[in-house]
Amino acid sequence: MIRKIKYVVSRLFWLLMLGFILLAWYGYQLGDSYQHAARTESNRTSDHVLRSGSGQAKGANELSAANASLTKELLERGAYLVKLGNCQGCHTQRGGVAFAGGRLMQTEFGQFVTPNITPDKATGIGDWSAEDFWNALHNGKAKGGRLLYPSFPFQNYTHITRDDADAMFAYLQTLPSVSQRNPEHRLSFPYDQRFALAWWRALYFKPGVLTVQSQQSAEWNRGAYLVRGLTHCSACHSSRNSLGANNGTNDFSGGEMFGSRWYAAALLAKEELDLGSRDTQEIVKLLHDGVNQQSSVQGPMAEVVRESLQYLHKEDAVAMVKYLQSLPRQIRAAPDMLDQVLARPSFDASQMEVMMMRGEKIYRQHCMDCHGQQGEGQSGVYPALQGNRSLQMDNFGNPLRVILAGGFASATRSNPRPYSMPPFAPFLDDQELALVLTYIRNAWGNQASVVFASEVNPYRTANLD
Ligand code: HEC
Ligand code: HEC
Ligand code: HEC
Repeated sequence: MIRKIKYVVSRLFWLLMLGFILLAWYGYQLGDSYQHAARTESNRTSDHVLRSGSGQAKGANELSAANASLTKELLERGAYLVKLGNCQGCHTQRGGVAFAGGRLMQTEFGQFVTPNITPDKATGIGDWSAEDFWNALHNGKAKGGRLLYPSFPFQNYTHITRDDADAMFAYLQTLPSVSQRNPEHRLSFPYDQRFALAWWRALYFKPGVLTVQSQQSAEWNRGAYLVRGLTHCSACHSSRNSLGANNGTNDFSGGEMFGSRWYAAALLAKEELDLGSRDTQEIVKLLHDGVNQQSSVQGPMAEVVRESLQYLHKEDAVAMVKYLQSLPRQIRAAPDMLDQVLARPSFDASQMEVMMMRGEKIYRQHCMDCHGQQGEGQSGVYPALQGNRSLQMDNFGNPLRVILAGGFASATRSNPRPYSMPPFAPFLDDQELALVLTYIRNAWGNQASVVFASEVNPYRTANLD
């Protein structure tokens, strides 16, 4: 009997091992084998449709030929695409040389250091071929087959067409080469084991250029291509599981950024940014200029606008926003009653009134000069707090961060000298901050939960970016 059990268990064990190995093999080889990634017909049609503006779509084949001559047009397009991908933002250290890497990225798995992607042969990607580069973007593998961590958003970049990847590569190869060797990542076990990425890929990675949806307009397809691929909105605006995976490139469910605690809100949920119900031009303006009538971008989003989205051609920006607006509104599961009661203590009207009075006093003293008696702000100068969406979300991290650290919108070409807000961390204690935040979340018709002093404190020590 015992022998029989042992036998079965050992068989099961080996079967399981075999399963693990097969899964890893599957994860490792996922994607096209890149030597064979010669352009297929379908590949060409997507190149054609996904390219912006009909005028620019000429000569796709000429340009994408393996030994394309480096035409001016190709390089300009490459430069534009590299901007949209925000490659420079991640691959440049604070105050460092562009594209030479060295920027630190703090995550729950440890610290990543971005590599040098200038054409230096020894420390950059100077000895890479266009195929190697494509393999990195499309398959998440470095030259030689080394698996890349998804902190490099290849889950999104896999949607980029071969043609566009070649243009980006051609442009990157014209940059000055910079010899800069960057430190290794410092990740905790077991995340420091690169081979484990094979399993991660098997579970979460779906390589592939987007197929053109022929029932949709060229504009819609272009929007989908940019939103899901190059501009990688889902990389920040989605919630992730404990292995850092989201639900794909159309997942805009909202997520908090590790370390800095900035909250990239749900793009389509009614309770949050609800892009579908808003004016197209206003959102275009916000993404392109960093400000519109109602709000301004902050923190990591301000960086995205400064480094990348402000360079969007108008028709591309419109295509992206219209694409997002065409998606179904996200419905959130309402937390059930018991959860709601357990989650936050409730206050009766008189307790609430006391808190509001104390909050109002702080507001009048420190904030009203700029934001107005009724939180109406001043158009184009001081944002309105009345009716302000980002102020009334369940997650109050963003407004709290602005109050603590001050608000410095990015200077963009269309808004070169934005107004800023002084930091209040040195002047208000946790209790006062909680009160003023509770006040502005509930005054003038606003409605949101009460904020507690104990919830304020962790934000004082959050990273600034
Ligand atoms: C969110 C930050 C981020 C963005 C945006 C980003 N990268 Fe990276 N990239 C990384 C990180 C982190 C790594 C290192 C991954 C690893 O070690 O596995 C990396 C690795 C790479 C590599 C592999 C280099 C090597 O030597 O192994 C290439 C090539 C690359 N990125 C190119 C790009 C390009 C081109 C873009 C723009 C389209 C881009 N990256 C945008 C973070 C980023
Ligand atoms: C690097 C992470 C990151 C990326 C990439 C990113 N966002 Fe954001 N986004 C944020 C954060 C954090 C906020 C919250 C700060 C704020 O409200 O400005 C935000 C805010 C926003 C807002 C609300 C701004 C406001 O104040 O009303 C919109 C709309 C938005 N993002 C759209 C997008 C779109 C569309 C994309 C892709 C083109 C994108 N974001 C890419 C991090 C990101
Ligand atoms: C000197 C003028 C000034 C004062 C005083 C001031 N603010 Fe601001 N506030 C601004 C400006 C300008 C911005 C926009 C900053 C940006 O775009 O980064 C802003 C942004 C904000 C935001 C973010 C709004 C959004 O849509 O994201 C909040 C919340 C806020 N202020 C609350 C307060 C509170 C609370 C106080 C008082 C404790 C205060 N402000 C005091 C000028 C001021």
